[in-house]
Amino acid sequence: MVKVNFGVIGVKGIGKNHIESIKRIKEADLIALADIDETAGKAVAEQHHAKWYADYTKMLEQSDLDAVCICVPHFLHTPTALLAIDCGKHVLVEKPMAMTVGEADKMVLEAEKKGVKLGVMYQYRVEPAYSEMKAILDRGDLGAIYRFVMESCDLRTQAYYDYAPWRGSWRSSGGGVIINQSIHHLDLLQWFLGKPVRLHGWITTKIHRAEVEDLASALISFEGGAQGVIQASLIDALSITRFEICGDKAKLLSENGDVKLGVLETPIKEYIEKSKEVWDHPKCNWIKVTPKAREAGHIAILRDFTQALLEDREPLIPGREGLVSLEIANAIILSHFKGKTVTFPVDRNEYTKLMQKLQAGHLSQFAS
Ligand SMILES: NC(=O)c1ccc[n+]([C@@H]2O[C@H](COP(=O)([O-])OP(=O)(O)OC[C@H]3O[C@@H](n4cnc5c(N)ncnc54)[C@H](O)[C@@H]3O)[C@@H](O)[C@H]2O)c1
Repeated sequence: MVKVNFGVIGVKGIGKNHIESIKRIKEADLIALADIDETAGKAVAEQHHAKWYADYTKMLEQSDLDAVCICVPHFLHTPTALLAIDCGKHVLVEKPMAMTVGEADKMVLEAEKKGVKLGVMYQYRVEPAYSEMKAILDRGDLGAIYRFVMESCDLRTQAYYDYAPWRGSWRSSGGGVIINQSIHHLDLLQWFLGKPVRLHGWITTKIHRAEVEDLASALISFEGGAQGVIQASLIDALSITRFEICGDKAKLLSENGDVKLGVLETPIKEYIEKSKEVWDHPKCNWIKVTPKAREAGHIAILRDFTQALLEDREPLIPGREGLVSLEIANAIILSHFKGKTVTFPVDRNEYTKLMQKLQAGHLSQFAS
């Protein structure tokens, strides 16, 4: 293969970013588009000289199609991906890769069986600030990590849900802020800190007319020993995305993409154990981190995915890795409804049963 022939399923929303990105990659061709909205689908197809399908299942029969981007509402991710895989197509699926981690497992397994690549669109991974934070953590500049805070707090109006009602329902979205917006930050969190171990979560719908949550909180611990707090909201007028990661040797802070590193003169453990001072703290040198420029956004993930197919290697975010953030999101919802701490791996059957109850309207609104 010297060029990858792409098809995009779902063109009106984020599908546009996939289309624009494919058009800019010289090793990629956009040959097909599928959307149930005939007006939008045909217009975009004509503009890009691609073939339009109302029915994506027909598009998947096109023999010269190598790969598909799945840009449809959440509830369609798994059925669309499974059929595409079955047709031998490589799949790049938008986040969240599925609504339940059990569905995600199935997608990973089927892709492995069929020998096709499955990638997930978590484009924050290629943001210069977050790439730099990952490099700092991987270098061990923080030493042992003790605690962290992740805030992923933003605002969506009621119009956001009214424009695309699938976003507000358990049946078609599988959750609210935690699965739709903050899942990007959950992906970063697990990329930074490793495997989750235990979690206690709460969710609620404070303001929006939607079935799903607009505010979520959780306490979570990771295999490396770090424990911390997750806050996710769609009711913050003054939006904030913040990571505070506190290690033995340094503190790493990022606030709305600005990163700084506080390097301690003496590591905390040593200072606590050896200092003769009763009230003092180790001295700290704050360094503003200037991330290296790099290609970011959807195009970077699509470029990597294209290269992964051409080089027959795993994409930057393979399905197996992409499902961890979904598992954390599921754990927050599961813990809330159980009123108990959840341990990882999340019980797939238990979560699927909970989701079925939520979707059938058999569980009342959240406790306040
Ligand atoms: N990576 C990101 O930053 C990012 C940003 C926004 C959305 N998303 C994800 O992208 C997906 C789509 O979200 P959106 O906001 O673009 O939604 P949207 O509702 O704006 O667009 C969905 C598109 O899918 C089409 N569609 C619906 N059912 C279809 C079907 N059966 N066959 C073919 N086309 C169909 C619709 O007509 C529409 O064009 C979601 O999973 C969302 O989480 C990711």
